[in-house]
Amino acid sequence: METDRHVSCATILADSRRHYRARLTALTAEFGTPLYVYDAAVIRARAARLQKGLAPLKAKLHFSVKANSNLSILRLIRQLGFGFDVVSGGELARLQAANLPLADVSFAGVGKTGPEIRRALAANIGCFTVESAGEMARIADTAAEMGRIARAALRLNPNVDPHTHKFITTGRAETKFGMDFSTAAALWRQFDGHPAVRIAGVHLHIGSQVRQVAPYIEAAQKTLGFITARRAEGFTVSTLDLGGGFGIGYQGEADFSPNDLAAALSPLLQNTGLQLVFEPGRWLIAPAGILLMTAQYIKQAGRKTFVVVDAGMQTMIRPALYGGRHRIISLAAAPPADTPSITGDVVGPVCESSDFLAQNRELPPVSAGDVLALLDAGAYGMVMASNYNSQLRPAEVLLDGNRHRLIRRRETMTDLLATEQDLSDGVSFLGEEPATSAPDRPPGG
Ligand code: LLP
Repeated sequence: METDRHVSCATILADSRRHYRARLTALTAEFGTPLYVYDAAVIRARAARLQKGLAPLKAKLHFSVKANSNLSILRLIRQLGFGFDVVSGGELARLQAANLPLADVSFAGVGKTGPEIRRALAANIGCFTVESAGEMARIADTAAEMGRIARAALRLNPNVDPHTHKFITTGRAETKFGMDFSTAAALWRQFDGHPAVRIAGVHLHIGSQVRQVAPYIEAAQKTLGFITARRAEGFTVSTLDLGGGFGIGYQGEADFSPNDLAAALSPLLQNTGLQLVFEPGRWLIAPAGILLMTAQYIKQAGRKTFVVVDAGMQTMIRPALYGGRHRIISLAAAPPADTPSITGDVVGPVCESSDFLAQNRELPPVSAGDVLALLDAGAYGMVMASNYNSQLRPAEVLLDGNRHRLIRRRETMTDLLATEQDLSDGVSFLGEEPATSAPDRPPGG
């Protein structure tokens, strides 16, 4: 089946390895490394799977922009029928820069600032996901002042354990996200009928890289109890946004199944009249991306082997931050069958021992100059890249059929320095007298 062949870059590599490998290698010759490459065929195939799997729920899908915010990726995902979940004015500005419709946009996050709320109201986005009483008041005041109506969903914290890494657990009571049910109920009573606010429903997001359906069911059950209680008080509840978080098989195991989720949720939601929303990020985009990097040195330290590459924690921080285990393969021509594989670490150039992409991993035979590919890098890769150690952030390329386009150029040293001010402008500071030799100092000034 066409879709199955394109379900991840890994499956394409496994299927048509030589062809795809040659193509990726050619990209590194054209654009250099480290390089993020995304495959539109994979994005389309995964979008279709998700839409088909969740079809029984008639849910709206909002792509979570934080997973991959490249303008061209957002444009493609919009073409596939998705709205968006944003968490900052910057993410909203990206949608605006790409001239994408904003009616199907929800704005989550615990720290929305005044200017961000203004921007969202001015843009007339679909819905705010409200995370606290203070935020609700700020949104209401700002909307009233601007003569707008803010549509809102209250984010609940259902106190459910999604069984994932603690840094990406958001549905437990001790995390900063959402509100406990009694706070949310009080807020609903307070703001129902407010002239500048329309509370349309509830939102929750229990965590990310969730592998099981059960935590979603537990969270939905609790939330339906909340909704029934609000309806009994006479409030209108029309939307239920269950967030994102669908996990993928980073080791090649099965992805979280949207079909299983739909089958388990359908009986619960029948006759509730709720418009469901999901906000997947990783599931859609992670397997559509790979990170290409070049081996610089093979370093032996006692019994330990380090493959030093030109990408690192500044390019892809998931292994360092969450212990993420991404498969790494070599694009170099396959060595003779009897060449032993090596066990070692793949590390970057950054001066920290947390700078690794893989640890104690059985790796294909590698020589300096070989191109390696880190798989499932399409989500939380480039968006989390940094300039630490004054490293330049990589370029991004999008493949579509047999064509490709550069969708973000590699940073330059000029970009690196663009926003900084060196105190050489002749203004006295840090206890120094103005430098007499300052080049831009007016003569005699
Ligand atoms: N909706 C909300 C409100 C979220 O906070 C998130 C993710 C999502 C949707 C999308 O979750 P996804 O479907 O992508 O799992 N940097 C971490 C992941 C952080 C996720 C934060 N929130 C990682 O690399 O694993």
